[in-house]
Amino acid sequence: MNIAIDGPAGAGKSTIAKRLAADLGFLYLDTGAMYRAVALAMLRKQIALDDEKSVSAALEQTEIDIRYENGAQKVYLDGKDVSAEIREHAVSKAASDVSALPCVRLRLVELQREIAAKTDSILDGRDIGTYVLPNADVKFFLTASVNERARRRYEELKSKGTACVLEDIRNDIEVRDYNDSHRAFAPLKQADDAVAVDTTAMSVDEVTAHMLNIINGKRV
Ligand code: DC
Repeated sequence: MNIAIDGPAGAGKSTIAKRLAADLGFLYLDTGAMYRAVALAMLRKQIALDDEKSVSAALEQTEIDIRYENGAQKVYLDGKDVSAEIREHAVSKAASDVSALPCVRLRLVELQREIAAKTDSILDGRDIGTYVLPNADVKFFLTASVNERARRRYEELKSKGTACVLEDIRNDIEVRDYNDSHRAFAPLKQADDAVAVDTTAMSVDEVTAHMLNIINGKRV
């Protein structure tokens, strides 16, 4: 069984997907982490993120690997664990930029499909239901108001002791949403057969229970 969860930045996709995967005993694949790893590789190599030819050439020399350690997804770049670095602020915007390039998407989508074909899994991203797994058994589109998404990200960063400004976070989220939903190839878009869940006024427990109900309804 494959479950697709798409939606804009900060809608709670990864938090919910992890919970669902643990409850169902499914593998969880965070596809955004793969775009982040490509972005980190290009930033390190100082390659212009809109220069598809150079990005494509560099990508051929780059090894991206997904591993699971004690049930947690780790991303390896050229044999090194970069799971922490890819969460840095500069990488978020860069990931959105490189994700617009077809050469990057084609390479990562192939890997995502391979992983999903092997096992019961939950994939989260922007184009899972529309492009990566159009035949997924259940598709969700998670949203929340931009203010609420910015607030959640702000609280998360603050709790980690990272200095941040709410207004900057909100702007970053808006820019990423715009980029992700306006690119030509496989943009962020709700699939026609996806169930929309607006999490603005819902707790993590409520969202998880609601989605589990829908998934279990499809399993019988
Ligand atoms: O989910 P995230 O914030 O970690 O994703 C980082 C960027 O990667 C996001 O701005 C757009 C891109 N992305 C994508 O284009 N397609 C996906 N399936 C997942 C992420």
